[in-house]
Amino acid sequence: MKVAILPSNEKIGEVAADFVETLLSEKSNAILGLATGSSPLPLYKELIARHKAGRLSFANCRAFTLDEYVGLDPEHPERYANFIRREFTDQVDFPEGAVNTPNDKAENLNEGAAAYDASIREAGGVDFQILGIGSDGHIAFNEPGESLTSRTHVGFLTDQTREDNARFFDGDITKVPTRAMTQGLGTIMEARQIVLIAQGKGKARAVRELVEGGVSSRWPATILQMHQNVFVLIDEDAASELELKEHYREDWAKYVEFN
Ligand code: F6R
Repeated sequence: MKVAILPSNEKIGEVAADFVETLLSEKSNAILGLATGSSPLPLYKELIARHKAGRLSFANCRAFTLDEYVGLDPEHPERYANFIRREFTDQVDFPEGAVNTPNDKAENLNEGAAAYDASIREAGGVDFQILGIGSDGHIAFNEPGESLTSRTHVGFLTDQTREDNARFFDGDITKVPTRAMTQGLGTIMEARQIVLIAQGKGKARAVRELVEGGVSSRWPATILQMHQNVFVLIDEDAASELELKEHYREDWAKYVEFN
């Protein structure tokens, strides 16, 4: 796990976009794993800018989003399928039908979840997975207590997560769905490269557990310690509770020098 403590959202977006640009220069038909929520927005902004500048094309790519609320109206702006189109994919050149999202409208949700999991494998697996992290340590919507090898499934959101996400629902927690269809931790761990982005003091405890805590379903993101190719891009606030902050700074400086 490489930890980069970066000075601004712009820099986080640039560093993450550099990974995407390198990948696409080697594999123009890469499979991207997309997170929703606010954390990856600086990355999407940068990718859109590079696309508009003619540096990046997604014309041969496919994408799979991480999760979807269960029960929102198809047109609801906070439905993640709508969010990702608005904030990223409709602003670049993904071909029609290339962006896949979990089907929370499946007649049988368990079958829908299993079909989504299978479709990722059938596509060849995710080359580059973008993640945020919840203040309670979730990745995608794998909440505390989730099996560390889970596959795509329907799970309940914690009250903490619903409270955190109420800002997208007029500040009203009762409007935040209680369930989501989410890629499992085992599904996410099959991605070949993972970049997790976190900003702000509200993420500091979860980031400390992610990087320096023991691997446990108490903090589901800690499973990423078992992955060989993970980059954690964070701002100073999100890094504020890390014990070995200076070590990560030196290590990242060397990584940048040699790459
Ligand atoms: C969203 C997702 C979630 C978010 C997390 C952080 O697709 O999978 O795990 O990444 O809840 O949300 P933000 O980025 O809004 O703080």
